[in-house]
Amino acid sequence: MHLRKRVYFYRLIVGSLWSVPAFFFVLALCCSNLTMAQEVADCMECHGDPEEVCKVARIDRETGEVNVVNMLVDEAAFMDSAHGRSEEGFVCIDCHQDLDGVYGEHLALLERVDCVTFCHDDPAAEFLESTHVEHMKDEDKIPPRCTDCHMGPNSARETPVADSGFHRAHVNKTCGKCHEDYLYTYCTNLHGQLSSLGVCNQDVPNCFDCHGGHDILKSDDPESKIGADNKVETCGKCHEGAGENFVKHIAHPAYKTSAFYAEAYKTYKEKGLLAVLADPQSYLALMFVLYVGIIVQAFSVFGGHALLMWVRMILDERKGGGGHGH
Ligand code: HEC
Ligand code: HEC
Ligand code: HEC
Ligand code: HEC
Ligand code: HEC
Ligand code: HEC
Repeated sequence: MHLRKRVYFYRLIVGSLWSVPAFFFVLALCCSNLTMAQEVADCMECHGDPEEVCKVARIDRETGEVNVVNMLVDEAAFMDSAHGRSEEGFVCIDCHQDLDGVYGEHLALLERVDCVTFCHDDPAAEFLESTHVEHMKDEDKIPPRCTDCHMGPNSARETPVADSGFHRAHVNKTCGKCHEDYLYTYCTNLHGQLSSLGVCNQDVPNCFDCHGGHDILKSDDPESKIGADNKVETCGKCHEGAGENFVKHIAHPAYKTSAFYAEAYKTYKEKGLLAVLADPQSYLALMFVLYVGIIVQAFSVFGGHALLMWVRMILDERKGGGGHGH
């Protein structure tokens, strides 16, 4: 063979020999991925063992808050959560994607779990593009994260299903962080009294039954769940036969707040008595003042009477009559 041809020939042989180990390497890689796919158990080796993991302090990278988080994972609680019980059979790395392919020890600070990009872009768009979130930004409030409302009893990992009592009670608290006044007035009402007594089932309405969870609209918007178009239907879910009159009920009675009286006084000064009387809450407030007034009057008259009798008895005793006379 001509020398040059021979060199090419050997090169060809040597070159293709390389592809043999390369082929086996790729094959081995595929097999290892099949046999070593990270299951829940792989993570639980450490995260289920109190000797391996413990509670650690974590600084929230967005708010700067310091929280103590438990690295010990309650597998049963996870399996009972919205994702754990799902037929899709979620494993840890579905959410903790930066650990995909990492076996054994791993970095301490992981990326925050992304609920939106691959899984929940629809609910996210509904929430993040709502006028409600725009209003929060206008007022320099940090909009709540998905996990703030969908938090589980011990960890955000334990996302409860939306109709569970835990989720219902928890969302009320999240709304209440920004709407303290409305949370307070809701609790003045029978609905709120029941839910703050711990009745958090679907029979008792909480914030989102009336306002919606993701796309919250102002109550005077007809499309709001409690707007003119939908109010009868919303209340009617629980109050069979509810009509236009029934839904005039005041969901946030403010007569126990000083702000209400200050506001009413301002309206009176600016627009006169008729404007105050145009607000149905004024009648509730009037009833409340009368009711408290009657109680105060009754106790002060009876109390005063009893007190005077007692003084009189003592005086009689001092005089020597011993109170036994007439
Ligand atoms: C070899 C033991 C070990 C294994 C296996 C392990 N982890 Fe961890 N993991 C830890 C330890 C220890 C910490 C606490 C790190 C620290 O703060 O020092 C931790 C922390 C975490 C954190 C919190 C990180 C943070 O930023 O706060 C997550 C999430 C986590 N692990 C998920 C997983 C998942 C998912 C798996 C399975 C793919 C897994 N881990 C497998 C030991 C392990
Ligand atoms: C549905 C998504 C999801 C799945 C599945 C999931 N996690 Fe998490 N995990 C989260 C979220 C959300 C957090 C809160 C921190 C964050 O937002 O990144 C978290 C936090 C953690 C933490 C930090 C401690 C804490 O409570 O905040 C550990 C440790 C952890 N997960 C381990 C696991 C292990 C082990 C599995 C599998 C049994 C698992 N996770 C499955 C979403 C998930
Ligand atoms: C202010 C509280 C709040 C925030 C923040 C929030 N949600 Fe929700 N979400 C709710 C409420 C309340 C429901 C239940 C609505 C209903 O049943 O009417 C819900 C329902 C859901 C559901 C449907 C669950 C089911 O069983 O049908 C998904 C999915 C969801 N949210 C995902 C997200 C994602 C993703 C984010 C972050 C972008 C997010 N949520 C942010 C309050 C919130
Ligand atoms: C991070 C703070 C924050 C949280 C959490 C929050 N809100 Fe709001 N909300 C605001 C701000 C700011 C506004 C606009 C100003 C206002 O009316 O107070 C607003 C407005 C509203 C309005 C009037 C509609 C509008 O778009 O102006 C309703 C109704 C409402 N929120 C109900 C809720 C309910 C129900 C929840 C819980 C599911 C909730 N909010 C959670 C901050 C928040
Ligand atoms: C039974 C239904 C119902 C429940 C439950 C309820 N609300 Fe309301 N909410 C209303 C109605 C009706 C209005 C409008 C009239 C008013 O202001 O009282 C309103 C008004 C509001 C407003 C003023 C903005 C607007 O749209 O008029 C906010 C903010 C608000 N509610 C927050 C909350 C929060 C937070 C909770 C839970 C703690 C809650 N609501 C529970 C029915 C409800
Ligand atoms: C999720 C179910 C539910 C929704 C939605 C709901 N309610 Fe109720 N409501 C209840 C329960 C439970 C009670 C307390 C038990 C009872 O008296 O029926 C109650 C009590 C009341 C009462 C007092 C009745 C009494 O006996 O003193 C009024 C008035 C009322 N609701 C009005 C409304 C209005 C108006 C709406 C719509 C804005 C509404 N409710 C939405 C469940 C609901």
